[in-house]
Amino acid sequence: MKIKNVLITKPLNFFHNRYFQFVPKHDPCSADSVSLLKNFVDKYTKIFVLTGAGVSTESGLPDYRSKDVGLYDRSPNRPVLYKDFVSSPAVRKRYWARNFAGWKLFSSARPNEVHKFLAQWEKTGNISWLVTQNVDRLHHKAGTKNVTELHGTSYLVKCLNCPNLFSRNLFQLTLRDLNPNFHVESTEIAPDADVHLDPALTESFNVPSCDKCGGILKPDVVFFGENVPKEKVFNLYKKVEESDAILVLGSSLEVFSGYRFVLAASESKKCIGIVNIGPTRADKLATFKITARCGEILPKITI
Ligand SMILES: NC(=O)c1ccc[n+]([C@@H]2O[C@H](COP(=O)([O-])OP(=O)(O)OC[C@H]3O[C@@H](n4cnc5c(N)ncnc54)[C@H](O)[C@@H]3O)[C@@H](O)[C@H]2O)c1
Ligand SMILES: [Zn+2]
Repeated sequence: MKIKNVLITKPLNFFHNRYFQFVPKHDPCSADSVSLLKNFVDKYTKIFVLTGAGVSTESGLPDYRSKDVGLYDRSPNRPVLYKDFVSSPAVRKRYWARNFAGWKLFSSARPNEVHKFLAQWEKTGNISWLVTQNVDRLHHKAGTKNVTELHGTSYLVKCLNCPNLFSRNLFQLTLRDLNPNFHVESTEIAPDADVHLDPALTESFNVPSCDKCGGILKPDVVFFGENVPKEKVFNLYKKVEESDAILVLGSSLEVFSGYRFVLAASESKKCIGIVNIGPTRADKLATFKITARCGEILPKITI
């Protein structure tokens, strides 16, 4: 049985190609902006870099908050809340059915110029650490070594009851075997693979329990309403302290768990640079803010 999913996400009317369809409207970056960023990169020796969904839009993955192209502006879909996921088997069924349908497109995303630039920059030594709020593994795929995934990764599945942790790609095969009649054609790509499906399609989806202990299986991603592990946050505060500047790329910083590192940098009077098309929560704290597409400006900086 082949089931056709009904998309409720607003189609985009101005995309020029598959990879740029989720990049918000922006002006070309100026020569002044390029030299400002170049001077910053040359001046500091230990730069803590924080990335957000905006560095992955040029890989064809939407962000959440951009006008017109971000998920929140195009769809009534909202990310699942942690408390709903753990308390409701129906929510887990819906979550995994949608994630199963969205996985193929989501996991086929490739690193773009920004990820490649950062991987290259790491080799020159003046990035002290890279922390990403993204769960898409694109910094790893580009070859960056020293990266912390603040909100975990979609590429691993964990048991909430025991240490069982395993590959999401492998789990796709398990889900396929358990749901041989579930062939949903999703042409939508969503942040963290959570595509919209007609709820009626998800009710009969079979979700396995942990094969070691029977516990609940969850992607190794920090859901809304869940806390980032304390030790991870503590280590990142230390990395901010050890660095001499912070650079934010492609994040609105609306989510506190990323914003707190910019606050910490501000409190210790470090230089704060931001490259982001839209406004951010830290614009007032920034030493400089450049409104530009990351994939345009970064390759213009020679490192
Ligand atoms: N790819 C992913 O893994 C992914 C995608 C969406 C959301 N998330 C999660 O949701 C939260 C969202 O917060 P966020 O701040 O990362 O996203 P956000 O949607 O709040 O902000 C993204 C920002 O990036 C800017 N932007 C988009 N494309 C850009 C580009 N090419 N160049 C420069 N700027 C660009 C936008 O103007 C916007 O302000 C995070 O905590 C993250 O865990 C992850
Ligand atoms: Zn278990």
